[in-house]
Amino acid sequence: MAHTRIAAPALGLKQPTLTKQALSPKKLHIRTYGCQMNVYDSGRMADLLKPLGFVASDDAADADMVILNTCHIREKAAEKIYSELGRLKTIKKNLADEGRHMVIAVAGCVAQAEGEEVTRRAPWVDMVFGPQAYHHLPDMVQAAARQGGIIDTEFPAKPKFDGLPEAVEVTGSSAFLTVQEGCDKFCTFCVVPYTRGAEYSRPAPDVIDEASRLVDAGALEITLLGQNVNAYHGTAADGSAWSLGRLMAALAEVPGLRRLRYTTSHPLDMDGELVAAHRDNEALMPYLHLPVQSGSDRILAGMNRRHKAADYLKVIEALRRARPDIAISGDFIVGFPGETEADFEATLGLVRAVGYASAYSFKYSPRPGTPASALDDQVPEAAKAERLAILQDLLDAQQLAFNRSTVGLQTEVLLERAGKRAGQLVGRSPYMQAVHVDGAESAGLEAGAVAAVSIEEAHPNSVRAVPARAKADAA
Ligand code: 5AD
Ligand code: SF4
Repeated sequence: MAHTRIAAPALGLKQPTLTKQALSPKKLHIRTYGCQMNVYDSGRMADLLKPLGFVASDDAADADMVILNTCHIREKAAEKIYSELGRLKTIKKNLADEGRHMVIAVAGCVAQAEGEEVTRRAPWVDMVFGPQAYHHLPDMVQAAARQGGIIDTEFPAKPKFDGLPEAVEVTGSSAFLTVQEGCDKFCTFCVVPYTRGAEYSRPAPDVIDEASRLVDAGALEITLLGQNVNAYHGTAADGSAWSLGRLMAALAEVPGLRRLRYTTSHPLDMDGELVAAHRDNEALMPYLHLPVQSGSDRILAGMNRRHKAADYLKVIEALRRARPDIAISGDFIVGFPGETEADFEATLGLVRAVGYASAYSFKYSPRPGTPASALDDQVPEAAKAERLAILQDLLDAQQLAFNRSTVGLQTEVLLERAGKRAGQLVGRSPYMQAVHVDGAESAGLEAGAVAAVSIEEAHPNSVRAVPARAKADAA
């Protein structure tokens, strides 16, 4: 492992002794940015640090260690980290005035992409480590206590998973499970192949074991994660390679597991087994996040997406044949270099053809080191903003239309937490809608359970429902 040492004086570190570090309970504040893989990674970092006496804390101002688990996908996401580091500098100084030492760590994709640039811009940072290095965290914490700053941006995905602790804690009844990491697709706008490295699929038995532990710890729903999750090809117990569809067939057998989801997928990797899983696997929820980025073949080629708009539409058709009620979600980028009005119109055309239940859309953000950032025909900011507003209006209207189409439906909601109104609980429908269930508590429902509800009203970002029995009683 490459631990590059930064001189301690440059970091202004006070040196707590190792014994103290190991014995007294310490407060750990982890702030997570970006995708669900980072949420998963943050959970594992907390697991790793528990044996060193770190307990989770919501309060950065009183923490012994703060980890920013960062995202580098767009410029805005990366810049947020530096403003947060600015705030932490003051907190660290205030604590130092009280004789306390706060360790600040920058983890995740900004750490991976920028490495020593982070400590150059923010010399009060003690540790910088990438997504493939956090299994070294206990060593790094102890080494930082001894010697000063640490930078670790190595790339071995397999040793990382092997080095993670087995303990799992589930908050709520929905859990994430990383099955695949990295990406070999090299879309020309995207930093992920550089920050997360090459594709790696975890062996199927490891995934099944982790799923069983999550279910034992209370999970009813598991979302399988990977940057390119549907490219999964993990080794099974018999040495064969399993696709994601095959893996999910095995996971559906885990007793007590009610719901399966997976994200994020690439259209090229939607193989027949996976499409069929949407028909045959009862645990698999009728929802799919399938980014397309653009509806223009010219732009798709420039993005190196390696498929045409028509190929994407064919995948959607096949999915709808397999599971007619499937809710489709997507990601879009407007203003990719060279995007003309006609290209943008093609994106709107594709959106109309699909009819999205939800979607995320972004202005193209040039990322250092990616091929698209070097293209000359960058789209002016004003055109990007205008196109994004038009696209988002259309996607918002589609989301509302989808929510309206579910009014009157009897469905199941995985209840997650209390809502704003008294007695209300909030959860997710099979289609990933946020569902506010009125009168849930008086109907004896509890957070953490799956409940039958009837959807009564649609809003732009949620639906309102009542417990199915309450409705039957009232009728
Ligand atoms: N600019 C804008 N959006 C981007 N995304 C990835 N890279 C960029 C970029 N450079 C978007 C894509 C991807 C999602 C996670 O983020 O839509 O699917
Ligand atoms: Fe990035 Fe996804 Fe393309 Fe991989 S498939 S390069 S993660 S946008």
